[in-house]
Amino acid sequence: MTAVYLERFMNYGLTPRELRSGRPIIGIAQTGGDLTPCNRIHLELTRRVREGIRDAGGIAMEFPVHPIFENCRRPTAALDRNLAYLGLVEILYGYPLDGVVLTTGCDKTTPSGIMAAATVDLPAIVLSGGPMLDGHFEGETVGSGAVIWKSRKRLAAGEIDEEQFLDAAVASASSLGHCNTMGTASTMNAVAEALGLSLPGCAAIPAVYRERAQYAYETGRRIVDMVHEDLRPSAVLTREAFLDAIAVTSAIGGSTNAQPHIAAMARHAGVEIATQDWRDTGYAIPLLVNMQPAGEFLGERFFRAGGVPAVMWELARAGKLHIDRLTVNGQSLAANLEGCEARDRAVIRPYDQPLKLNAGLLPLSGNLFDFALMKVSVISPQFRRRYLERPGQEGVFEGRAIVFDGGEDYHRRINDPALQIDEQCILVMRGAGPVGWPGSAEVVNMQPPDALLKRGIASLPTIGDGRQSGTSDSPSIVHASPESAAGGGLSWLRTGDRIRIDLNTGRCDALVSQAEIAARQSTAAPKPAPSHTPWEALYRAHVGSLETGACLEMATQFQHIGRVPPRH
Ligand code: FES
Ligand code: MG
Repeated sequence: MTAVYLERFMNYGLTPRELRSGRPIIGIAQTGGDLTPCNRIHLELTRRVREGIRDAGGIAMEFPVHPIFENCRRPTAALDRNLAYLGLVEILYGYPLDGVVLTTGCDKTTPSGIMAAATVDLPAIVLSGGPMLDGHFEGETVGSGAVIWKSRKRLAAGEIDEEQFLDAAVASASSLGHCNTMGTASTMNAVAEALGLSLPGCAAIPAVYRERAQYAYETGRRIVDMVHEDLRPSAVLTREAFLDAIAVTSAIGGSTNAQPHIAAMARHAGVEIATQDWRDTGYAIPLLVNMQPAGEFLGERFFRAGGVPAVMWELARAGKLHIDRLTVNGQSLAANLEGCEARDRAVIRPYDQPLKLNAGLLPLSGNLFDFALMKVSVISPQFRRRYLERPGQEGVFEGRAIVFDGGEDYHRRINDPALQIDEQCILVMRGAGPVGWPGSAEVVNMQPPDALLKRGIASLPTIGDGRQSGTSDSPSIVHASPESAAGGGLSWLRTGDRIRIDLNTGRCDALVSQAEIAARQSTAAPKPAPSHTPWEALYRAHVGSLETGACLEMATQFQHIGRVPPRH
């Protein structure tokens, strides 16, 4: 154990005896704060974490993590994942900590913490903050994000005014906690639990439930034991763990953002996860969880139905998980899942009676990109009938491309009658990838023009090199890699080109001849906006594609680095 003898640690009342006691010193990586309201519950929860650490014989040292607030950070919160990661690596490497509690919640606060713990390979345990309580408005449950997408369409169609729009949005934010839908926050916390990094049952507990504070205490206790057992992330973050996380992502109808985050966590853990794994392991898994945006319920119902363990219980029984692997409580997944059968079948379906078959994220490729992803579980019956079930053409759609260069261009022109957008069009967003935006923005789930919305056309097929919100029910084709700013296929695409999407073969191609493509490639694609901060420039110089996790490429060579040796 570390002897922390520096006198300055005593200036708030720690005694020399405590510091020389040889007890494990446990960092609490605090992600909550006024700039990260989704994680604010951790400001209260860490009191219980500290008590757990103390009762188990450790000494707690809480420190702040760079804030990441999904909805507020501009140009996009995705920039902060790698920044918080870098900061946390330096803290875990450079300070005298024996273990760490990662407080998680809002989308990127979960992967950034896990990426850092994997890089340093210090004993680490995840404490999720939990979702907000279910929102209610005018007799309906209203979920984070999902209500925004829905209300925006109603606003554009003239069904509600701005005041009513705001009322519905506010009703979805009902208490402390992160998004209460199966958006990216709930997905990533479920992924952390599926990986085996949190105590079983942790992810789904609503933020303000008593169980949440009880888990905070037990998490504090457990990390001290993990230090004594020298149980490190490298023993938990195996390839099998990541494959299971992919399977869980499908079964819960999880966010498309899980793909780059899982890729990034795996790479920093030194584990090989490829595009093919999403097809082989993820795609054929059915949708079991009836939660918005793919279904109807919100976080409280999911928790009471049994949460992540109940979903994994179904997957394990169907032989879809690696149940012998180790998790942070020191037990196997099999032991953790004993007796975890779901308690509410309206929310968590049996494996053989799913909400949808083949609900995974479907990888696509073609002449427009080497890799992109489609969230099949959110395809609506209306969308399916219009685009994917034409007799003799099942799963195939062809349409006219309408190309937008970034979000501003989209907002400026989407209602321009000269574009003649109709239901046979495919909306394309480029310049929205990690280098282009920069950071890669959640802008691919583009809303159709108002005129189409008024006619009841709620969504058009969309393609882009950015991402989409995990709370969106749009079956967008996202994460096109390489992105247009890196010379990917979208850079030569033009409005009016025809695009053919074939979900049977996983192809997506522009019907443009090789010669024409070559001619267009020589004319420069639109330049990305300049970098406005030092970090934007650094990020752009080092970031990879969404396919491989949008990691800082140079950072992935530093694996399992351990703590700095003491040096006077
Ligand atoms: Fe923070 Fe959804 S915006 S959790
Ligand atoms: Mg998001």
